[in-house]
Amino acid sequence: MPPGGIGLYDPLEYLYTRRSIRRYTNEKVSPEMIKEILLAGMAAPSTGNQRPWEYLVVDDREKMIEITKVHNLSESLKEASFGILVAANLNKLKYPADWWIQDCAATSQNMLIAINMLKLGGVWLGVYPYEDRVAGVRKIFGLSEDIVPFSMISVGYPAETRRSKKDYHEEIVHWNKW
Ligand SMILES: Cc1cc2nc3c(=O)[nH]c(=O)nc-3n(C[C@H](O)[C@H](O)[C@H](O)COP(=O)(O)O)c2cc1C
Repeated sequence: MPPGGIGLYDPLEYLYTRRSIRRYTNEKVSPEMIKEILLAGMAAPSTGNQRPWEYLVVDDREKMIEITKVHNLSESLKEASFGILVAANLNKLKYPADWWIQDCAATSQNMLIAINMLKLGGVWLGVYPYEDRVAGVRKIFGLSEDIVPFSMISVGYPAETRRSKKDYHEEIVHWNKW
């Protein structure tokens, strides 16, 4: 811990300042930065290292707008520079239990942190487990049944600022007993 108490450890600022950013300028994000974000996603932990995730980068505005028609809370895609669809490839699962959901959440979160570190803005648009969103996204991209669209991350240069989150809630922390 840094001297002086919690919340003062500089590198962790990237976690506290990560917020859902849904408004973007029209500046395009470079392919190098997109690859850096994907690399961060691929560094996430996964169950037994099964790494069930695959990524579909979408920067075709028509496709992005199509997504907004099957996902009612994805307006941010209209302004985003690009989106990354995180999907699970069920052929890669090592275990019968649904651990892949947590794996896909971990890779999604890694990318959101990387997006913030790169001074970009992004938001997690949940797809799974809403059946209509899963079916809608599958149809747009012609995905087979063994590919499960999990989340869409919309990304761009931020056109809004939001306060950082640094709220320690004593009442939700338990030590040794509940
Ligand atoms: C699983 C999941 C699904 C989400 N789905 C959406 C979504 O469909 N549309 C959206 O605008 N935000 C979505 N969000 C973002 C949340 O609304 C946001 O994280 C929450 O309000 C907290 O705000 P913050 O990210 O700025 O801390 C989702 C977040 C998670 C973790």
